[in-house]
Amino acid sequence: MKTLISSRWHRIVTVPLSVLLMGAGLLFSGAASAQMTGSAHDFSSLNWNGYDEICVVCHTPHNAYSETEAGAGPGQLGPLWNRTLTAVNNFATYTSLTRVGSDIQATGFQADLSGVSKLCLSCHDGTIAIDSFGRDTNNDPIIGTTFVGAINANANIGEGSGLTGDLSNDHPVAFTFPDGTDSEIVGITANVVNGQTTPMPLFGTAQMECATCHDVHATATFGKLLRVDNTGSGLCLNCHIK
Ligand code: HEC
Ligand code: HEC
Ligand code: HEC
Ligand code: HEC
Repeated sequence: MKTLISSRWHRIVTVPLSVLLMGAGLLFSGAASAQMTGSAHDFSSLNWNGYDEICVVCHTPHNAYSETEAGAGPGQLGPLWNRTLTAVNNFATYTSLTRVGSDIQATGFQADLSGVSKLCLSCHDGTIAIDSFGRDTNNDPIIGTTFVGAINANANIGEGSGLTGDLSNDHPVAFTFPDGTDSEIVGITANVVNGQTTPMPLFGTAQMECATCHDVHATATFGKLLRVDNTGSGLCLNCHIK
């Protein structure tokens, strides 16, 4: 699988340092950042805004963004979020051609992505620079210049153009997961998908989001930050009874 190894970061990061850190992570496996270090979401070597840290690009312990500053509505902010959210609030969403009357159509999408997927799109729709995080000495948001497409064009999910976003060619997200009513989709218990091999998380009120399939913190070891190994389509078959 061409995953982390082919990631551009591994070409930029100085190898001896990352090897050293990964070694330390193995020796002291309790270290919280062991999985994130060197992952696709470890931007610490870029030293943006003067930080040589991992979490700060997305979180801050103090002066986190308010909902108004981040361009979000109530309840839309992530934990101690340190970034502006995408201003796009009407994403074009996936439409089912094949399963008319399926759960997708019945429950619909939130085109404004009011759940945690919006956090991902604050980088992955290409409208907010990745290094737009933190604050200047006037406490104003810092506006960066490096967009996701410049690092990896394929990572431009929900590709933005101006203030439009397009998720119509992506697996549906931001909809209420079927509650055991669809014979070809596994059921749920509270906010957990009862996967055939592995439980997977839902967010908000039983919403399927990007973070249902992906672990932004690279806690799982599967390629593309996936929560379930997709060898033999194991990820897909965890939910789809086919
Ligand atoms: C690239 C952005 C990004 C980076 C970097 C990042 N996080 Fe997160 N974090 C998120 C998002 C998005 C969520 C909400 C979605 C989720 O929980 O999966 C989240 C949720 C969390 C949560 C609450 C939910 C949970 O999993 O407990 C904690 C705690 C957290 N992050 C800690 C950290 C720490 C500590 C670091 C650095 C080692 C870090 N994060 C780095 C994006 C990021
Ligand atoms: C701070 C900006 C930022 C945020 C927020 C962010 N990402 Fe990323 N992500 C990136 C960048 C940049 C890359 C490309 C890294 C590369 O190719 O080296 C990436 C890569 C990825 C990859 C590919 C990993 C690989 O191994 O090739 C996945 C999957 C991903 N992100 C999912 C998510 C999800 C899901 C969320 C939200 C829960 C999220 N990202 C939030 C910036 C971000
Ligand atoms: C149903 C599960 C699922 C959902 C939901 C999902 N993804 Fe993915 N994603 C995948 C799989 C599987 C891959 C690996 C595809 C491959 O290797 O060709 C992937 C790959 C990626 C990549 C890497 C692209 C590349 O070629 O480097 C990024 C970035 C990404 N996803 C971001 C997101 C974002 C952002 C969302 C929400 C808008 C999201 N994903 C929702 C399953 C999912
Ligand atoms: C976390 C559970 C989950 C995972 C993992 C998952 N899906 Fe889905 N998928 C769903 C749900 C729920 C729907 C919406 C219900 C429906 O209409 O079938 C859906 C919808 C779809 C659709 C659209 C069906 C339609 O009505 O047009 C396709 C195609 C699809 N998934 C393929 C995949 C593939 C391929 C993978 C693996 C890369 C995958 N899914 C992984 C839960 C999942």
